[in-house]
Parts: sequence; C-alpha cells; structure tokens
Amino acid sequence: MNIVLVGMQWGDEGKGKVIDIMSQKVDYIVRYQGGNNAGHTVVVGDKQYIFHLIPSGILHPGKICCIGNGVVIDPGVLLTELGDLRKNGIDFKRRFKISSLAHVIMPYHKNLDRLREAKRKNKIGTTGRGIGPCYADKINRCGIRMIDLLNPVVLRAKLKDNLKEKNEIFKKVYQHPGFSFKEIYAQYLGYGELFSPYICNTAALLSKAVARKKDILLEGAQGTFLDIDFGTYPFVTSSSTTSGGACIGTGISPDKIDKVVGVCKAYTTRVGEGPFPTEFPAPFGKVMRDKGNEFGATTGRPRRCGWFDALIAKESVMLNGITEVAIMKMDVLDGLKEVKICTAYKYKGKIFKEFPSDLEVLTKAIPVYKTMRGWPHQDSKPRSFKQLHHCARTYLAALQDILGAKITMVSIGSARKESVFI
Ligand code: IMO
Ligand code: MG
Repeated sequence: MNIVLVGMQWGDEGKGKVIDIMSQKVDYIVRYQGGNNAGHTVVVGDKQYIFHLIPSGILHPGKICCIGNGVVIDPGVLLTELGDLRKNGIDFKRRFKISSLAHVIMPYHKNLDRLREAKRKNKIGTTGRGIGPCYADKINRCGIRMIDLLNPVVLRAKLKDNLKEKNEIFKKVYQHPGFSFKEIYAQYLGYGELFSPYICNTAALLSKAVARKKDILLEGAQGTFLDIDFGTYPFVTSSSTTSGGACIGTGISPDKIDKVVGVCKAYTTRVGEGPFPTEFPAPFGKVMRDKGNEFGATTGRPRRCGWFDALIAKESVMLNGITEVAIMKMDVLDGLKEVKICTAYKYKGKIFKEFPSDLEVLTKAIPVYKTMRGWPHQDSKPRSFKQLHHCARTYLAALQDILGAKITMVSIGSARKESVFI
C-alpha cells in the first residue's frame, strides 16, 4: 500500500506524530517537497526530535528513508540533522537515501530570501531558509542539484555562471557585497563528498520497491493552503504541497498511489503573513497559543490561532483526494465552554460556502460559525474513542460530517500513546 500524507491547513498540523505512527507499518518513508522550512516534531518517551529534512520515519530501525527529487536541500542543515541522529545512536547508514535530482539551497538563496522579504512592502513572512529562491532557480533552469556536487567540472561551470549574475543583483539591488566563488565551491564539493554514499536514483529505487510490493509512505511537508497553486497565494510556500506533488516529487506514478491521509488540527493555526478568516482576537488567541504551545518548530515564531475552518478543510479533502483524516491536538480544546466551526464566509452581503480564491474576500470575510458545547478537561487521558467526553465526540462527528472523510485517529497529546484510533 502506498500512502500519501498531507497537511490539510497551513502547516504544523502535527504531521510528524502521524508519520511516526504510520511509519511502523511501511517499509519506505519519503519526503517529496519543501525543505528545512518544515519542522516535524516527534516525541518518543521523554525525548523530543525535530526533523526539518530527514523523514520523521528514520526513528524506526530498518525503515528506508528517502529525500525525493522534489525537496530542496540545505546541505549544512542536513549534515547537522544526520549528526544529531548519530549522537542519539540512530543508525541510518544503509537506509538513508537522497535523490540525485534534488535541488540544493545555496548561500545566495538564503540571503536573497531574507533581503527580498526585508525590501518587500507586502511581506510573506517566509522562514528565511532560501526555499523560494531555490525553487525559483529550479524553474529558471539555473539550479544546482545534488548530483552536481559530485562533479567538480559541472559544479564549477554552474556556480560560475550563477554567481556572475547573482553577485551583480546583490550589489546593485541590495547593496550586498555578493559571494566568493572559491569559498562556496570548496564548501559544496566537500558536502558532495560527505553525501556521496547516500545520493542515488531514488525514483528507480522506489520503482523497484513498488514492484516488490513494499509499502511506501509519502510524507508531505507544509499544508494544502501553502501550496504554490492552491494555497492563499502569494502567502504560500514555493512547492506543491498537495498530494499531486507526491508523484512529481518522487517519480512514483499516480497509478501507484493507493490512499491519501489528511492531517488536520482540531482548530486552525498559521505562521507568517496572509489571510486567516477564523483567527482568534488577540487576548483569546494568546490564551490558545500558550495552551497549545503554538510556537514554530523551525523559527520559534508564535503561531496565529483560530477556530476550525470547514471551508478550507473541505477544499483540502477535495484537492488531495483524502479519504482518512487524523484530527490533532484535540486536547487543546478541552475546558472551553463552547467551540466553533466556521461553515461559511460572509462578505458584502454574499455568503461563501466554498473556499474563495479572491484575496480581498479571504482577507475581509466574516466567518459564519456553528457553535457547539465544549467539554471539560479530562484528568485521565481517554484510551479509546468511547472514553472521549460525549461533547468532544459530537464535535468530531460534526467535523467528519462536514469533511466527508473518515476520522480514523484523534490525537490528545504529543506522545505516541496519547492517541485514540477509530
Ligand atoms: P511544516 O512542514 C508552517 C510558511 C511560512 C511562510 C510561508 C512561506 O512544519 O508544517 P517559505 O520559507 O516556505 O518560503 O515560507 O510558508 N511555512 C510553514 N508554516 N509549517 C511549515 O512546515 C511551513 N513551511 C513554510 O511561515 O508563511
Ligand atoms: Mg512548521
């Protein structure tokens, strides 16, 4: 069975935990897009791991973990992440693979990301990791791929050409001194040497795995509304975060995908700028942020919090072909008198029941809420769906009804065992 796992909102849905649980049942775990803008948290016992690039499944011995061609890789970050695994005694030598076709984040991408953000009036609030500029170079056909780090001749030619143009832009547009060829060349050839045991044709590897009936989990990063096409453009990331991206970003053909699982918070959060119709007003927003510990795993930025938005969740089910949903952080809603689900937007006297793409509507829309009874905090953690408070179950039933997809898991804490399965 080959499963794609996607975030249904604006990222930070709790994908790391679900991937970790699902990894037990598969043979391969593959990242297909994004880069170290992602922050996937997994809690094992009293230890917390945060993965930015390496598939969260790496914690399971024997599983093969791949970084697919659709991912953009900052080699320095990858090196640190592998070093951390080594320190924690996690052996990955023979089971970690990097696509030779994955694009490489260069120092100038990171600087450009930050300089552009600083100069723009309408800021996106990027993570500053060079993601957008790296994908832009990929599409512009001047990107550097992992395989290029293994070939000094190719790397030299590409880097020379790139720096000639980029340094001029840095100097003239951003009053930045630019970058030295020598330094980057030596550093990135060094990375190539270190990563050479892992770099391979991952599409071929995965194709063989499919032929041998192995099970593959395709791990999405970010969320549906950060998708470059379907998200709240331009307040999005630069990759295809939706399930379709899994094929492009791995080379696995669409006919080999068996199921798409969506991960969704019991409420909504977003980091960075952009429209967020159901965002809580400031005082309550702060209460919920602290309660849910809603601070970015990558940048530490406070996340904006709001009620569950059924319009985006429904759109997500449609765009991704989701049939199963994991509802995360349900426990954060414990103890509220009432909980709300946004079922429509209202703008200029018009009711929107489907997700509108007009930025003005999205920015100014007033949410229409269905208000439901809250439930008390439960002292002992429920171990089954039945043990959830009846009002919590009613809330989940309402979500399932709206989504038209089956809720198969509800998370009530960060640990593996703090989950109920349905
Ligand atoms: P995970 O995988 C939440 C957001 C940034 C910004 C926008 C563009 O942990 O869910 P970028 O640096 O990608 O160009 O920034 O996208 N963003 C995320 N928000 N979770 C993420 O990943 C994100 N990755 C990017 O905050 O608004
Ligand atoms: Mg995140």
